[in-house]
Amino acid sequence: EEGTKGNAGDCLQWEVIAKCSTSKARTARMTLPHSVVETPVFMPVGTQGTLKGLLPEQVTDLDCRIILGNTYHLGHRPGHELVRKAGGLHQMMNWDRSLLTDSGGFQMVSLCKLMQITEEGVRFESPHTGEETLLTPEQSIAIQNALGADIIMQLDDVVHVLTTGERVEEAMRRSVRWLDRCISAHSRPHEQNLFPIIQGGLDERLRRECLTEMIKRQAPGYAIGGLSGGEEKSSFWRIVSLCTDYLPDDKPRYVMGIGWPIDLVVCSALGADMFDCVFPTRTARFGTALVPSGMMHLTRNEFLNDFRPIQEDCGCNTCKRYTRSYLHSVINQETIACHLVSIHNIQYELTLMKGIRESIEKDTFPAFVKEFFVKQFPNGD
Ligand code: GUN
Ligand code: ZN
Repeated sequence: EEGTKGNAGDCLQWEVIAKCSTSKARTARMTLPHSVVETPVFMPVGTQGTLKGLLPEQVTDLDCRIILGNTYHLGHRPGHELVRKAGGLHQMMNWDRSLLTDSGGFQMVSLCKLMQITEEGVRFESPHTGEETLLTPEQSIAIQNALGADIIMQLDDVVHVLTTGERVEEAMRRSVRWLDRCISAHSRPHEQNLFPIIQGGLDERLRRECLTEMIKRQAPGYAIGGLSGGEEKSSFWRIVSLCTDYLPDDKPRYVMGIGWPIDLVVCSALGADMFDCVFPTRTARFGTALVPSGMMHLTRNEFLNDFRPIQEDCGCNTCKRYTRSYLHSVINQETIACHLVSIHNIQYELTLMKGIRESIEKDTFPAFVKEFFVKQFPNGD
């Protein structure tokens, strides 16, 4: 009945270091084929050359251990064969630490206007060739097996979080069926870990059913998908919390598409371990720096004569060498400013995660959370 042939992967070692005594937060050491990752972890999203505008050595200097690899090659046929010939995504991106790749369906849903989902897979017009392409669970795994990331994701049927009715149930059930096809197709379980993705929208009954089914498949870790699409914070937290209540304690839990500092703190408290988002690099491109008090919009005229670094106690290369005034003046000559602010923003989020981990280890996480919120909302709102 379960149809679970094959193995979702067995090259992930999970060792809990400490648990918070007052919340569901925990800190762990996750050993992957290419690196050891301390969790809770934020994984920046990569592009062709590592992270947008950053060199691999700059990302390594930030002590980043895992990034999302780009799934650009999912869209066109010769793409992943070329990557295989080039020695895999690690070599192509010149990144020797851990990588995670997404399955492609979600990207297609967000990027392609013309997209159709059937039981077979996701049919879309390739953004590169304009050709109609069918991405099946088997193909997504074949491509991800060729790319060679440490963690790969199942192809899932994702509906917008605010979708209601039958379609949410259909997408959840289909995601379970596609998971079985992905597990059967996975050819490198000793080199790559395949994560299922829990779906079911904001419906608790559907989420529970999905959890029950997917947990049976004994994966090396689990993702929580279909969130952060404009739903109320309270619904988002309710679903994350329900999922972390059900998911096994001894495996990593990954909330997909999360990157706002507040969400990283709250989801860590709810027992989530892994996060990814384009937010820190994307917001940098708009000239916005992340700081303990929130966001600093460097385009504003108030920074014209401000000769302080973005954040005095940051220590990133940007804060060591450049002033707010300089960044303000170059922000519309784009690239350089965007790279400099990206470095700071990634450093900010990695430092935030380090603070979370260290406070869990010392069992002072509640005080850490309180201080975080006081700085973000000094007026108590
Ligand atoms: N990225 C953010 N959310 C999701 C999701 O639900 N599924 C997939 N595959 N990727 C995501
Ligand atoms: Zn900085």
